[in-house]
Amino acid sequence: MTDFLATLRPEALGAPPSGIVEVMNYGRRREGLIPLWAGEGDLPTPAFVCEAATRSLAAGETFYTWQRGIPELRAALARYHERLYGGTFAPERFFVTASGMQAIQIALTALAGPGDEVLVPSPAWPNFAAAVGVRGARVVDVPMTFGNRGWILDVERLADVVTPATKAIFLNSPCNPTGWTATREELASVLALARERGIWIVADEVYGRFVWDGSARAPSFHDVAGPEDRVIFVNTFSKNWAMTGWRVGWIEAPPEIGDVLENLIQYSTSGVAVFVQRAAVAALDHGEGFLAHQVARIAESREILTATLAATGRARFVAPVGAFYLFFGVEGEDDTSRLGLRLVDEAGIGLAPGTAFGAAGNGFLRLCFARGPESMREASRRLADWLNGRPQRA
Ligand SMILES: Cc1ncc(COP(=O)(O)O)c(C=O)c1O
Repeated sequence: MTDFLATLRPEALGAPPSGIVEVMNYGRRREGLIPLWAGEGDLPTPAFVCEAATRSLAAGETFYTWQRGIPELRAALARYHERLYGGTFAPERFFVTASGMQAIQIALTALAGPGDEVLVPSPAWPNFAAAVGVRGARVVDVPMTFGNRGWILDVERLADVVTPATKAIFLNSPCNPTGWTATREELASVLALARERGIWIVADEVYGRFVWDGSARAPSFHDVAGPEDRVIFVNTFSKNWAMTGWRVGWIEAPPEIGDVLENLIQYSTSGVAVFVQRAAVAALDHGEGFLAHQVARIAESREILTATLAATGRARFVAPVGAFYLFFGVEGEDDTSRLGLRLVDEAGIGLAPGTAFGAAGNGFLRLCFARGPESMREASRRLADWLNGRPQRA
């Protein structure tokens, strides 16, 4: 029998399976189960976005296109950034990608390969580390600590692990899965470290519009970095405009590296479908109302969830500052991989085990609360009943 696997690249063979998949496979077909394991909301893409795509298709926009993205979308991205962060943004800074995940892949392909290291504070979305590993580079996990004030990033700890091989710091704020949201001061000190040591920052701010202190956006590297800084932003249309299935995102980077990024796009997807890009323009130009509606809805769900769980006295968490996940521990339950499976059976809810987000996630579960208040009330009740010792069927 041919051993097909034996001749594959070790980096490809070593790509880990997602730690969320086990519980998803276990619970996928359960009737009545409330699935809170994935990182997406329950609202469909708004009609005006879909209509922009269908208009484009009807107009025959079905051909190859610009690798970097259509000029209209790059201009819309520049306008969006000007509205959100102030100042001026040239369209030359923007590169359209086939998802946030592909933006991450391209950024990492440009920055790190065999022999290089990328620092990733954890708990973290597992795709960062996997994308680094697939490129033959090494992830240096920098655990954050959990205490009464929530998760804390120790920038000195980051500085301690920088070596001559360090190419980049990958910073995700607001963070999936913890909801940790860097302050402007924390961003400034990470930037100072990067400047001092001559390393890049890959800034994943895909949850930047989901903050729960009433602000329009989270602190951003845009607030502290200048055009001379080595910062690559990776972002997506998935979360803000309920477009997870469209697979469209963007990179913002110094225009000086534009030709390199363009080549990397050429040799991967060769560009994003024009009709998808037309939809993205509509989302940027007309999507603030939808986004505000989504944020208000999720904010209410967050209140319901955190109040209900706090009342049980058995859940260990600090209410997340940003993103739409609750990362919590349960008193007396250390093995949260098994607990995730039990909650499918005993509470009728699907959660992701904290171990899926690195060793620092041991003892935690991740719950996505990007849903309407009604559904979140029911999910919170089920979880609270289970915590109070009243397990029940979905
Ligand atoms: C932190 C973070 N970055 C990037 C992404 C990528 O999103 P997408 O590939 O859907 O654009 C996700 C998706 O869950 C995420 O949580």
